[in-house]
Amino acid sequence: MFLLLLFLFFFLSPFLETLSLNQEGLFLQQVKLKLDDPNSVLSNWKETDLTPCSWNGIHCNSVTHSVDSVDLSNSNLAGSFPIDLCSLHNLTFLSLLNNSINSSLPLEISTCQNLKQLNLAQNLFEGTIPETISNLDNLILLDLTGNGFSGDIPLSLGRFKKLEAISLTGNSFHTSIPSLFGNISTLKQLNLSYNPFSPSEIPFQLGDLLNLEVLWLAGCNLVGEIPSSLGKLKKLKNLDLSYNNLHGKIPSSLTELSSIVQIELFNNSLSGELPLGMGKLTELRRIDVSMNQLSGNIPPELCELPLGSLNLYQNQFEGPIPASLAKSPNLYELRMFKNRFTGELPSDLGKFSPLSWVDFSENELVGPIPASLCEKGVLEELLLITNGFTGKIPDSLGQCTSLTRLRFRGNKLYGDVPVGIWGLPHLYLLDLMWNSFSGEISKSISGASNLSMLLISGNDFTGSIPEGIGWLDTLLEFSGSDNSLTGSIPKSFVNLIRLGRLDLHSNQLSGELPVGIKSWKQLNELNLADNELSGGIPAEIGSLPVLNYLDLSKNMFSGNIPVELQNLKLNRFNFSNNRLSGDLPPMYAKETYRDSFLENPGLCGDLEGLCPSKEEVKRRGNVWLLKVIFVVACVVFVVGVSWFYVKYRNYRKTKKGIDKAKWTLTSFHKLGFSEYEILDCLDEDNVIGSGASGKVYKAILSNGEAVAVKKLWSAAEKDKNGDIEKGQIKDDGFEAEVETLGKIRHKNIVRLWCCCTTKDCKLLVYEYMPNGSLGDLLHSSKGGLLDWSMRYKIAMDAAEGLSYLHHDCVPAIVHRDVKSNNILLDGDFGARVADFGVATVMDAVGKGPKSMSVIAGSCGYIAPEYAYTLRVNEKSDIYSFGVVILELVTGKRPNDPEFGEQDLVNWVCTTLDKKGADHVIDPKLDSAFKEEINRVLSIGLLCTSPLPINRPSMRRVVKMLQELDAENKAKIVKKDGILSPYYYEDASDHGSVA
Ligand SMILES: *[C@@H]1O[C@H](CO)[C@@H](O)[C@H](O)[C@H]1NC(C)=O
Ligand SMILES: *[C@@H]1O[C@H](CO)[C@@H](O)[C@H](O)[C@H]1NC(C)=O
Repeated sequence: MFLLLLFLFFFLSPFLETLSLNQEGLFLQQVKLKLDDPNSVLSNWKETDLTPCSWNGIHCNSVTHSVDSVDLSNSNLAGSFPIDLCSLHNLTFLSLLNNSINSSLPLEISTCQNLKQLNLAQNLFEGTIPETISNLDNLILLDLTGNGFSGDIPLSLGRFKKLEAISLTGNSFHTSIPSLFGNISTLKQLNLSYNPFSPSEIPFQLGDLLNLEVLWLAGCNLVGEIPSSLGKLKKLKNLDLSYNNLHGKIPSSLTELSSIVQIELFNNSLSGELPLGMGKLTELRRIDVSMNQLSGNIPPELCELPLGSLNLYQNQFEGPIPASLAKSPNLYELRMFKNRFTGELPSDLGKFSPLSWVDFSENELVGPIPASLCEKGVLEELLLITNGFTGKIPDSLGQCTSLTRLRFRGNKLYGDVPVGIWGLPHLYLLDLMWNSFSGEISKSISGASNLSMLLISGNDFTGSIPEGIGWLDTLLEFSGSDNSLTGSIPKSFVNLIRLGRLDLHSNQLSGELPVGIKSWKQLNELNLADNELSGGIPAEIGSLPVLNYLDLSKNMFSGNIPVELQNLKLNRFNFSNNRLSGDLPPMYAKETYRDSFLENPGLCGDLEGLCPSKEEVKRRGNVWLLKVIFVVACVVFVVGVSWFYVKYRNYRKTKKGIDKAKWTLTSFHKLGFSEYEILDCLDEDNVIGSGASGKVYKAILSNGEAVAVKKLWSAAEKDKNGDIEKGQIKDDGFEAEVETLGKIRHKNIVRLWCCCTTKDCKLLVYEYMPNGSLGDLLHSSKGGLLDWSMRYKIAMDAAEGLSYLHHDCVPAIVHRDVKSNNILLDGDFGARVADFGVATVMDAVGKGPKSMSVIAGSCGYIAPEYAYTLRVNEKSDIYSFGVVILELVTGKRPNDPEFGEQDLVNWVCTTLDKKGADHVIDPKLDSAFKEEINRVLSIGLLCTSPLPINRPSMRRVVKMLQELDAENKAKIVKKDGILSPYYYEDASDHGSVA
């Protein structure tokens, strides 16, 4: 009987199954229930089906119809990890790549017994990796890239028996790199890049992974030397140790890596020469050792390899470029900028190689530009900035239609520019500045349909500007100053609706401004000074919404100054030396703007002495009388000058170098005082501070108000110090500061009332902050005055100020010198961010942030990556702000002698590890706030993460400070952004960007 039933069951079971969804389908329905599916990716997972085999993302074994693969990648699913998937007994492949799964990985993951591949990359997982994961005996691939996993890496991982590939890239592991990976002898790929590991050496045991093909340890906070054991990895194809702090020489054992294809060692502190014997690495196609301190010559044997890419930039290599390099059949990328290479380039460079990217900028190379560079027709970027190249541009480059960026700035090139160069169809940037090129801008330029930046200033170009430039509707900047261009500004220029900067000063342009310039809606800077332009100044100019720099001086413009100019918010303008007449627009009829209108004989306003009085104008016909007046004026002038000189000398004796005579005043607010009142207060007695860029005075005005006046070191004083170069940086600093601050209004940013300039002295007038700087107060004997609630509020205020600069200013502003001395305190100890001496506006036009040729910022506050890369972005400010937080918490200076070699950040980290938080926190603080202080400390540590990727945005910092009470500190350590924060792709936009 029993047998009969059994028989019936088996016989009928196929028919029973036709009635309802099978068990695996039911498990998957559970999965569906628990996931949030905004894109309805799971909409065809229907309960009415019999098996799940046709459902999206599901694959079944063709014989048993049992689910063996679940692939739900790129599906925008959210929710916690659907552990029901592990009930599918035959599941071997599971991918949830690129979703928003935001739980921890449950211990029960070990029940996915048959899993071979587990891909959870690019989700929002957090918490630790469960120990149990190593029970997945069959696992071959484990990919956890781009999540928020943290804590310890479980030692059990060393027990995997079949694992071939593991990636923990881009998570938040803080511990040091464990040596356990050396036990997984089956490993072919090991990828731990971009984790904020504590400083550790490369475990030498990794040399035992004899099957390893890929070893990626970029951005792992590695220190010490590269272990020579790595030379045992005979199957290794790909070695990436970039973005670490590795020291010492490159071990010669690396020349034993007989399968190696790619070596990435850039951005470390490696020194010495390249090892001998690299010629043995016959498979090597790509080597990048940029941004180290390597020296010596390039070994010719390296150049004899069939390399594709050779990047050696920002080192101290010297000597000639080996001629053998030109024979390389695969070479497409050659970046050698910022070294000390000398001699000429091989004359057949490019003849045998498909060169695409070539950058030799900032070396000491001489001789001609090789004509064969584009022989293979794929050259895209050719950058030779600041060298000693001579001769003409080879004609062959004019036929190189693949070119997108061509930069020859600052060489000794001369002659006509080949016609073809002007019209290259894909060219985005043409930079010929500061050479000795001559001839005309060719009409062929109308074919340059992608041209955005046309930079030809400082040459001997002649002839007129082709009409065709006006039809290049991608043009953002045209700088053609200091040439001998003639003719008029083409009427077609009004079509350049994206133009941001037009600088044609110091040429011989004539004629009138074109009609219709109100279409220049993006124009920021218009500099046509020192030409022979005539006609009226069009009223349209007043309708350019973003114009803030206008210089029309030294021309022959006539007529009135249009009253519409009052609509503009100009930081700088100059109409002097023209033939303008009539009344000044009322807003400008002020003494302070006098210098902008000088030398316009007919220009009158209420300004005394700007022009002859009206009666005199009437009598103007009387030339004779004019001559008399002229002679008298000359006499008066000579007498006046002598008188002034004597006075001036006396004056200088009494007051140090303040010349009252000629001040240009640019104000950004309604002022209740005049510049002279300020000058009277610049006494040594009133000095309240002195910094790198100048002295700061306190000035009490007649109305009782106080202002702070920063006097930048004058040119004369600079010369005295023999410090000309630094002085120039400071000059730039002034302009940067004024331009930046003039635009900003925020409660946590120090207000700039106005600035006054003369030729050799510059003053910035700020609101006065009675409690001085945070740095001074905190690190003086009065440091105890600042209790915890005040310190917390200061952190909050400063964070809001910086957040405003980063997120609410368009384009974003990077401060670049955040430090406690630049955070000022008002009467109520409210904090405001000050001193934009080195602030730069992020380059909205260019692709990435600008990098600077000088290190800005202050010792102890500079983000680690900044010191190596000289690249600036918001993340460097966030690092510096983190240091300020650590100062507030510890009460210590960023470079306290007590730390020895370390800085504050290192000291805090090591002390925390060894002795605990109590030894870090300022003993002057009330221990009742310990919990809160600890949380602020952790925000400070987060901001000072060695990897920019792990630093939160300023907006996030503000939020975290606000939400201090939020219980789970671990949640703070959530990633904040994309995986690759580095701007390495655009590394060639280095310091040379003007
Ligand atoms: C991630 O998935 C989304 C859809 O959810 C898709 O639009 C996006 O392109 C995917 N990203 C990558 C890198 O594949
Ligand atoms: C699938 O799993 C079941 C147990 O649930 C087992 O009996 C069956 O043999 C498996 N099929 C395959 C193809 O592995």
